[in-house]
Amino acid sequence: MPDGLDRYDVVFLGYPIWWGEAPRIISTFLERGDFKGKTIVPFCTSHSSGLGSSDRNLHSLAPDAVWIPGRRFAGNTSKSELEKWISGLDIKFDTDMDYSKFPLSEGKNGQAPTIRLSSGYDMPVVGLGTYSLTGDVCVNSVKSAISLGFRKIDTAHMYGNEVEVGRGVRESGVPREEIFVATKIYPNQYGNPEAAIEECLRKLDLGYVDLMLLHHPGTNDVKAYKAMERYVREGKIRSIGVSCYYIKEIDDFIRQVDIKPVLVQNEVHPYYQDTDVVPYIQNLGIAVEAWYPLGGRGHQKELLSDPLLTEIAMRHGKSVAQVILRWDLQRGVVVIPGSSNPDHMKENISIFDFELTEDEMTQIAALNRNEKHGWY
Ligand SMILES: NC(=O)c1ccc[n+]([C@@H]2O[C@H](COP(=O)([O-])OP(=O)(O)OC[C@H]3O[C@@H](n4cnc5c(N)ncnc54)[C@H](OP(=O)(O)O)[C@@H]3O)[C@@H](O)[C@H]2O)c1
Repeated sequence: MPDGLDRYDVVFLGYPIWWGEAPRIISTFLERGDFKGKTIVPFCTSHSSGLGSSDRNLHSLAPDAVWIPGRRFAGNTSKSELEKWISGLDIKFDTDMDYSKFPLSEGKNGQAPTIRLSSGYDMPVVGLGTYSLTGDVCVNSVKSAISLGFRKIDTAHMYGNEVEVGRGVRESGVPREEIFVATKIYPNQYGNPEAAIEECLRKLDLGYVDLMLLHHPGTNDVKAYKAMERYVREGKIRSIGVSCYYIKEIDDFIRQVDIKPVLVQNEVHPYYQDTDVVPYIQNLGIAVEAWYPLGGRGHQKELLSDPLLTEIAMRHGKSVAQVILRWDLQRGVVVIPGSSNPDHMKENISIFDFELTEDEMTQIAALNRNEKHGWY
C-alpha cells in the first residue's frame, strides 16, 4: 500500500501523460494496494489517447474497488470545470464530515472517540492542555494523562515546555504513533518559519508533529503557514491549522493558502461561547477546539461554581467541569483542559457515560456573556 493511502476512501488515479509508462506505473501502484472498499476515480491528461482499454484492464488489478468511470481532460481544462466534474461524482469525501457532531457513543470513560480531520488523520476529541506546566510537573502530567487514557497533548513554543512534553510522551510506555501531539509557532517566529518549525521538531523529538498551529494571526502568518505546508509535503508535520482566527481572519486566510487548516483553536467556554464563529468554522469543514474550556487559569473558580452548571452537574452525578466539557463535545467542540492533577484529568476524560438533554444544552447556551478571558 503506498504510504498513507489506507487513510483515504477515495483515490483519484491520474494517468501520466506518457502512454507507454502509464500501465506500468499504475499497475505497480495497484498491485501494492488492497483497495477493498475504496473508490477509484481514474482520469488522464493524455492528448493522444483516452482512458479506453487501459482503464478496463486496470480494473482487473483492483477488482474489489468501486471504479467510477474515468475521464480524459485536455491540457487547458479550467479549475472550475474540474470542480464541476468532481462535485457531480456523488462521492462522499472525508472533508464532508459534519464537525458539529462527534461520534460520542463510540467513546468510553478513559477513551475519547476520534474525529477524522480533513488531512485524513484521526484526532481524539479530548486532550490535555499544557499551558503553564513546566519542568518535571509537565513531564509527569503528560505521563499521568497518557496512563489515564489521554491520547492527545497540546503544547506550544510559547509555553516553553515542548522538551518536557516530548519526554513525557516518550516515557509514557505508549507507542508514539498512538499519541496525537499538537504544538504552535508564535507570531514573533513567523519571519523565519523554517527555523521555528525545526526548533519544534527538535525540542519535541518525536519524529514528526501530528498538528502544528499558528498561535495567532500576525505579520507573515501566510508565509509561516506556507512553510508548514512544505513540511506537510515532506511528512514531518501531519496536519496544520490556526489559533485565534475568527470569521474575518479565517476568511481572509484560507483564500491565500493551499492546504485548508484542519482545525481552529479558539477561546470557548460557557461565558464566551463564540456562538457565530463555531458553526461558521465547522461549516467550512474545519474542526473547532476550545482553549480555556474551564474559563482559564485564574478564572475557572467562578465558572466551576456557576449555580446553573452546579444544578445540572448534581442532576447527572457529575462535576461542573465534566458538564462543561460534555457541553463542548455535544456542540462539536474539541476540548483540551489543562491540568497537573491526575484526579482532575481522570474526571475530564470520564464524560462518556452521560448526556446533556437538549433543554440543558439550551440553558447552558443562555449563560453566554461574551466575556473573553484571554486578550486575543
Ligand atoms: N491557542 C491559544 O491561544 C491558547 C490560549 C490559552 C490556552 N491554550 C491551550 O488550552 C489549554 C487549556 O487552557 P488552560 O489550561 O489555560 O485553562 P483551562 O483548561 O480552562 O483551566 C485549567 C485550570 O482548571 C483546573 N482544572 C482542570 N480540570 C479540572 C477539574 N476537573 N476540576 C477542577 N479544576 C480543574 C486546572 O487546575 P489543576 O491543575 O489543579 O487541575 C487549571 O487551573 C491550555 O493548557 C493550552 O494548551 C491555548
